[in-house]
Amino acid sequence: MSVLVDKPQQAEEPKMESKGVFEAPQVNAFGQTFRDYTNVESERQKSVEEFYRQNHINQTVDFVKKMIEQYSKLDKTEMSIWECCELLNQVVDDSDPDLDEPQIQHLLQSAEAARKDYPNEDWLHLTALIHDLGKVLCLPSFGQLPQWAVVGDTFPVGCAFDESIVHHKYFKDNSDFNNPAYNTKNGIYQEGCGLDKVLMSWGHDEYMYLVAKKNGTTLPSAAMFIIRFHSFYPMHKAGAYTHLMNDEDKQNLEWLKKFNKYDLYSKSKVRIDVDKVKPYYISLIEKYFPAKLKW
Ligand SMILES: [Fe+2]
Ligand SMILES: [Fe+2]
Repeated sequence: MSVLVDKPQQAEEPKMESKGVFEAPQVNAFGQTFRDYTNVESERQKSVEEFYRQNHINQTVDFVKKMIEQYSKLDKTEMSIWECCELLNQVVDDSDPDLDEPQIQHLLQSAEAARKDYPNEDWLHLTALIHDLGKVLCLPSFGQLPQWAVVGDTFPVGCAFDESIVHHKYFKDNSDFNNPAYNTKNGIYQEGCGLDKVLMSWGHDEYMYLVAKKNGTTLPSAAMFIIRFHSFYPMHKAGAYTHLMNDEDKQNLEWLKKFNKYDLYSKSKVRIDVDKVKPYYISLIEKYFPAKLKW
């Protein structure tokens, strides 16, 4: 499992089992045998389960608050959106022939697919391009966070963990699980309060949302919703947590569902000519973002 896949539990093909630079040791340990697909499949299940065990134990209200406080300082670096796309691309540019598609291909494939279906929604094209940039959290200069704090499905903290969350059983070892302030249906929130009031488990979605917001992006509310909640599968696939949503969330959810198709579409092997499409995306970046952002 490469750290840079969005959803560890859904890595589809054995060939996706690449030896990425940021892979967990237990994955590298069976790297030699990863062409034995049967073996790989069961090993993958184990490593995915271990991934979610760590995620579910460690994503607490305190942890999330600590991460927000730390990363809100935006004191890591300054760079443009396009520079970040290139940075993320380097991360997976490994000599391994079985490596996943470069990240920039995933970003551009999603963006171009959205552009084809919604030619007039330029904000959606840009949103697709930037939705995964928060994965730079894996890099040493961004704190080199462990996989469980970067990728995987996300969920609210501060209220009961919905049963639809993958590998829900591991929450029993989360210190919030038995905290009466955090383990009721609404927990610390009000019914219908709106998801912008809700603390989400920490990962690349939340980080990119924070970076975009604090750097004063002019992207519309639906774009910010997509960036922040694209890994919130318990909501957009299982329909959980509607009791925390407000009307704006419900409208934005429709866009997120559309977007999700393009996020998954990127598993296709259509190679995008980066130099050809770059001028278009640079123009969108200029429209919606400052030239340099603090990260
Ligand atoms: Fe993502
Ligand atoms: Fe993605």
